[in-house]
Amino acid sequence: MTSQYLRLGVNIDHVATIRNARGGLHPDPLRAAKIAEKAGADGVTAHLREDRRHISDRDIDLLRNGIDLPLNLEMAATDEMLEIALKHLPAAVCLVPENREERTTEGGLNVDKNFNRLTRFAEQLGAAGIRLSLFVEPDQVQLEAAKALGAPVVELHTGTYCNTQLGSPEREKSLDKIVKAAAHAERLGLECHAGHGLGFETVEPIAAIPTIVELNIGHFLIGEAIFGGLENIISRMRTLVNSSRADIVYDSSA
Ligand code: PXP
Repeated sequence: MTSQYLRLGVNIDHVATIRNARGGLHPDPLRAAKIAEKAGADGVTAHLREDRRHISDRDIDLLRNGIDLPLNLEMAATDEMLEIALKHLPAAVCLVPENREERTTEGGLNVDKNFNRLTRFAEQLGAAGIRLSLFVEPDQVQLEAAKALGAPVVELHTGTYCNTQLGSPEREKSLDKIVKAAAHAERLGLECHAGHGLGFETVEPIAAIPTIVELNIGHFLIGEAIFGGLENIISRMRTLVNSSRADIVYDSSA
């Protein structure tokens, strides 16, 4: 699937991180979600972690009812989270691995190794009409396992690529892996998303990959908003993403 238009999902977790640093209600993730909508986002993403370190159950409730944009709920594959997803019925669920001590999601889900355990999640989320995405490393084995599981979407982990230096051979190598994985996802008939660690300096080569149809970006946007204002920073990302896409020639039969 190729698309001239690249969807931008804004992850608002770290608005909640700042709120939780003091307790209380400020700053409000729902308000951030509404600003994201105004600034040209196509979706809002929130990760409800087991330890509730940022987004809370109440936030999910408020987001589900308070915005018009589709909500993408990131969560670990646990019974507790499955129950919450089935109760709130977000437009999409992105399953991520979750280690208790990690600062952020550290790698992709090992779909191949956890195949049997994930089957039930794929079936129940699919039956509830929730679009399932699996957050995976740009790796053929994982993509093939995602396809076999019946997930319609994969989100490629861009964290390793973003951690490399601009112009370094490591960056070229990790970008190449993402390009190849996105092409393989297309061959398998999987809708391909990408995210983690993206910012102004790293987004353009990823946005230029024609078979990627959605990016999910959070930490950079919220952090940069301190200096430039949330609406302005999301609008700048929107413009950058659109211009990275402008030179691609699309196969209209795709
Ligand atoms: N996609 C997934 C699956 C994630 O877990 C995260 C982080 O919550 C993101 C995208 C966004 O990453 P970042 O906050 O680094 O932009």
